[in-house]
Amino acid sequence: MNYLGKIRARSAQASSHYASYSSGKSRAPKRVLVTGGAGFLGSHLCETLLAAGHQVICLDNFSTGMRRNIAHLKGVDRFNAVAHDIVQPLDLEVDEIYNLACPASPPHYQADPVHTTKTCVLGSLNLLELAARTGARILQASTSEVYGDPNVHPQVESYWGNVNSFGPRSCYDEGKRCAETLFFDFHNTHGVEIKIIRIFNTYGPRMRPDDGRVVSNFIVQALTGQDITIYGDGSQTRSFCFVDDLIGGMVRMMASPSSLTGPVNLGNPGEFTIRELAEQVIGLTGSRSQIIHRPLPVDDPRQRRPDISLAMQELDWRPKIDLSSGLRQTIDYFDGLLTRPARELEAV
Ligand SMILES: NC(=O)c1ccc[n+]([C@@H]2O[C@H](COP(=O)([O-])OP(=O)(O)OC[C@H]3O[C@@H](n4cnc5c(N)ncnc54)[C@H](O)[C@@H]3O)[C@@H](O)[C@H]2O)c1
Repeated sequence: MNYLGKIRARSAQASSHYASYSSGKSRAPKRVLVTGGAGFLGSHLCETLLAAGHQVICLDNFSTGMRRNIAHLKGVDRFNAVAHDIVQPLDLEVDEIYNLACPASPPHYQADPVHTTKTCVLGSLNLLELAARTGARILQASTSEVYGDPNVHPQVESYWGNVNSFGPRSCYDEGKRCAETLFFDFHNTHGVEIKIIRIFNTYGPRMRPDDGRVVSNFIVQALTGQDITIYGDGSQTRSFCFVDDLIGGMVRMMASPSSLTGPVNLGNPGEFTIRELAEQVIGLTGSRSQIIHRPLPVDDPRQRRPDISLAMQELDWRPKIDLSSGLRQTIDYFDGLLTRPARELEAV
């Protein structure tokens, strides 16, 4: 589908996200800052916000984000892309801020762990100061990783988590936890309007082929005929949310009454073992790849499943797209991407 077709489809979807949740005032066009807007989730969010009529400033340091994710938006006059690292202070006039800037996959956030912590902590501080100065409402993309390797299942927002403070995942897990602390302290001491969502494993088109997360790993391995690598015996579980469902929940959270600060879990409560995921990917791609096993990484959680009662009650939100239809759309995306010549991909 071309961009116009896509933005029309998104427009219908975005107005349904907004219609049930926004007052007349919040439906008015706004100047919206999306940090991490060239990333996987951020680029889908930018599209949804443009389709709803807003002016969008997409800010990114292009560390894991890709210019090709937003190339199709460049011609839209309400869209601006700015290269900036949120670790550095910034000054803009905005009405709403979605803070998505942070590498999300373990190989990427572990590549420069100190910068990951700075992004979570100093980046949030800079954006909260911007929100305090402008009066903007600010949403934090927090994560299920704040629950660590959970002792409570499924994970409910009131659970404090089980997190290692100095393991290989800590720069991300503790960075995101500290960001939540800063959000609440700015809310309590400066009256900043905050929204915190805890995102559980989300997948879909525009993930990077080298992302290192399980869905993209399995699909790329299946499409290229490589062995499918399962870490551990494959009995560990995860829940997988399709990107369109997640973005719907995110904009609903931003448009919710000021009294709802969160944290609110957003994810798909369907729970699958990693082995089941591998088998579904092999079935849907028709691949001849074999499953092989490697040792489990340190601090890898055994079980993950969101309790989404709060999101259902407060946002009237629940995911609609099941795993096999989400996987089909994601497989189509990677199939197209992997068959494009490398030169063409570098150009965008
Ligand atoms: N996708 C998921 O399953 C998931 C789950 C939990 C939380 N999240 C959170 O959602 C957000 C987006 O995740 P994603 O999956 O789209 O990841 P992503 O890596 O595709 O996107 C992150 C974006 O942030 C940019 N970025 C990173 N550090 C930055 C910095 N210091 N300054 C400016 N830009 C920076 C990257 O270039 C990239 O465009 C992240 O904050 C992540 O922690 C995602």
